Amino acid sequence: MTAATKRLFIKTYGCQMNVYDSERMKDVLAPLGYSSTDTPEDADLVLLNTCHIREKATEKVFSELGQLKRLKQASGGKMLLGVTGCVAQAEGEEIMRRQPAVDLVLGPQAYHKLPELIARVHRAANERLETEFEVEEKFDALPIDRQVDGPAAFLSVQEGCDKFCSFCVVPYTRGAEFSRDVDTIVAEARGLVRKGVREINLLGQNVNAFHGRAPALDAGEDWSLGKLIRHLAKIDGLDRIRFTTSHPRDMDDDLIEAFGDTEKLMPYLHLPVQAGSDAVLKAMNRGHTAERYVKIIERLREIRPDMAITSDFIVGFPGERDQDFEDTMSLVETIDYAAAYSFKYSRRPGTPAADMFSQVPEEVMNERLQRLQALLREQQTRFNASQIGKTLPVLVTGTARNEGQMAGRTPYLQATHFSGDESLVGQIVDVTMTTASLNSVGGELANQPEPVR
Ligand code: SAH
Ligand code: SF4
Ligand code: F3S
Repeated sequence: MTAATKRLFIKTYGCQMNVYDSERMKDVLAPLGYSSTDTPEDADLVLLNTCHIREKATEKVFSELGQLKRLKQASGGKMLLGVTGCVAQAEGEEIMRRQPAVDLVLGPQAYHKLPELIARVHRAANERLETEFEVEEKFDALPIDRQVDGPAAFLSVQEGCDKFCSFCVVPYTRGAEFSRDVDTIVAEARGLVRKGVREINLLGQNVNAFHGRAPALDAGEDWSLGKLIRHLAKIDGLDRIRFTTSHPRDMDDDLIEAFGDTEKLMPYLHLPVQAGSDAVLKAMNRGHTAERYVKIIERLREIRPDMAITSDFIVGFPGERDQDFEDTMSLVETIDYAAAYSFKYSRRPGTPAADMFSQVPEEVMNERLQRLQALLREQQTRFNASQIGKTLPVLVTGTARNEGQMAGRTPYLQATHFSGDESLVGQIVDVTMTTASLNSVGGELANQPEPVR
């Protein structure tokens, strides 16, 4: 054991892949004596794990770096400053040029090289950039043992994307699609469960395109996500499985059926559609129609009538006409979402859509976004309210904001609060719902909690 002598502060932007990666960076750095701190002021190493998806996300990084530079100066230059994630990958050279206070820049496939890069920086070398794509090596080289923080964890099974939606930077920042081997995933899952994790969320930019090498004992064809989920469901002590983010094109029958035959697979699916107009879907290069999307959801709901569906939307994609937007609104009416994210289209240089004619004016985008969000908020509020009177199994994740209240999540991934004490953390308890708001549901314990194991 190395005594923890140095402090690490990581600020995470963007998607769950980044959240997972930040956890893994902590694991990589723990043997070097780094332990986490909640504030950058007293940190020896500050990492910004960045997101490049929209222009605003990228701008934030540069303004944050300006502030951190002052902290670094205040520390007498002792503090190391690093940029990781998708901005590091896409704009590594630019970061180093614009902000000389940055000591290291590391792309998402190179996190296992953090110790090496830190050593290089300490030797005052000027090799500060590591953004090669070697995703296979990354997963092989990350430590097997993970620190866990609560009963719900992310587990990355797939990285990268080959879909090349015309608006999106991910295929450029995360590289080509790559699935991890089933054996390594199962080992990581078992390790998490041994440490008290009861819910695992399988991650990938295109998680349902998963095709991982079959276990050594099986030696057959690559495994699909459905097969992986059914296998993970056999792990004792693992009670809940989720996966995100999926693409409608890869929603095969086997995976859809898993929602019916695998009890541990939660009745919740994030399936981004982006838009409801076929013309826009085509220009986005999404590779499916609105009708196909609706069919997938109908089939899911035949199998699991209580299925909660969420999505992402982009309004104001180049060439989006009023009628196209109305098509999005009616698709939302048809599906009836449990929750959804919606964004104004953000032009990303280097992507095909950036050069398309007829970019939609800002005020039109604003108006469309407001209308869409009003409808989505209404649906989300209604979905939460529909739980009132029901008793649902809630995985207790920690304390809630209010004194004497615990926080958890329903099978539908709704944030939940109820009166209880901290001994319940990590348990799945029945909560009868009595209140609901836009962002959460609340209730009371329905019966005595299960005995502590
Ligand atoms: N792999 C996932 C999502 C990746 S990015 C998928 O295929 O859906 C998360 C969300 O950001 C996307 O679903 C999309 O709604 C949004 N997004 C991506 N690029 C964008 C852009 N250029 N402008 C606005 N929103 C964007
Ligand atoms: Fe981006 Fe499309 Fe890939 Fe999702 S599927 S990461 S939106 S290119
Ligand atoms: Fe952002 Fe990279 Fe995720 S661009 S959304 S952090 S894959």
